[in-house]
Amino acid sequence: MAYSAFDLTGKVALVTGGNSGIGLGMAKALAEAGADIAIWGTNAAKNEAAREVLAATGRRVLALQCDVGDEAQVEAAFAETLRQMGRVDGCFANAGISGGRQQPFLEHTAESWNRVLRTNLTGAFYTFRAAARHMVERAGKGDPGGVLVGTASIAAIEGAARNEHYAASKGGLISMIRALAVELARHGIRANAILPGWIETDMTAKSTADDKFRNAVMPRIPMRRWGRGEDFGGIAVYLMSSAAAYHTGDTLVIDGGYALF
Ligand code: NAI
Repeated sequence: MAYSAFDLTGKVALVTGGNSGIGLGMAKALAEAGADIAIWGTNAAKNEAAREVLAATGRRVLALQCDVGDEAQVEAAFAETLRQMGRVDGCFANAGISGGRQQPFLEHTAESWNRVLRTNLTGAFYTFRAAARHMVERAGKGDPGGVLVGTASIAAIEGAARNEHYAASKGGLISMIRALAVELARHGIRANAILPGWIETDMTAKSTADDKFRNAVMPRIPMRRWGRGEDFGGIAVYLMSSAAAYHTGDTLVIDGGYALF
């Protein structure tokens, strides 16, 4: 018999960047555990393909086009998510972009700094604020609880040379989540960060296909393989479930052992 605490039937999960990679891996597992799913992404074709995959689980699935770096779009998408799904129990701020071509810090530009921070950190701020407002309002009506999860990165804790903008965006995300865990606990809301290592997704496809990169990085991954989107299904289900009822403010590293080695 399945462990009933992992049953998410009747709950709604919102996953930003849920049409691809890590976000899709989380969304699939959440749907398989019983949750209805809303995904937000910028690419309409990827949204539709992911919606079809997720709908095959038999759950209600909503896919919306939304740029999380745009405050008005996030407000509109959250309102539309509530209108169609009724509630949001778990909010996974996972949408993110890479730092682009790695360059010495001395050559970093304000443009690349602002571009990365806009999606990875400001986007998570807009997303979490919309979700938290909804969850706190629900708590005030006698229906407390809610789960906030951010996809950070081990780049936040390692010395991510030539990638300072990306590292800072993910470090900032972790700090925001720790603050939220303290501030929102009184409403029954939990907040945690996931720190993936090297995961083979659209974002990293160029790097993981490159022999030089592979030869340098793979020997440093004790599990001797890239991570996959589905490696993030279990943690998503756990964090959204009542099994994690006392687990908040944490940073969970999922990297095949890379950060230790
Ligand atoms: P991916 O490229 O497969 O997925 C990124 C998702 O974010 C896509 O669904 C895309 O539509 C969405 N997105 C990008 N900009 C957006 C915006 N402005 N508004 C809304 N959605 C937007 O890449 P992956 O690897 O699955 O990335 C997911 C998260 O994991 C990102 O936050 C990334 O920084 C993080 N991460 C990835 C690692 C990796 O090795 N792949 C390692 C550590 C963290």
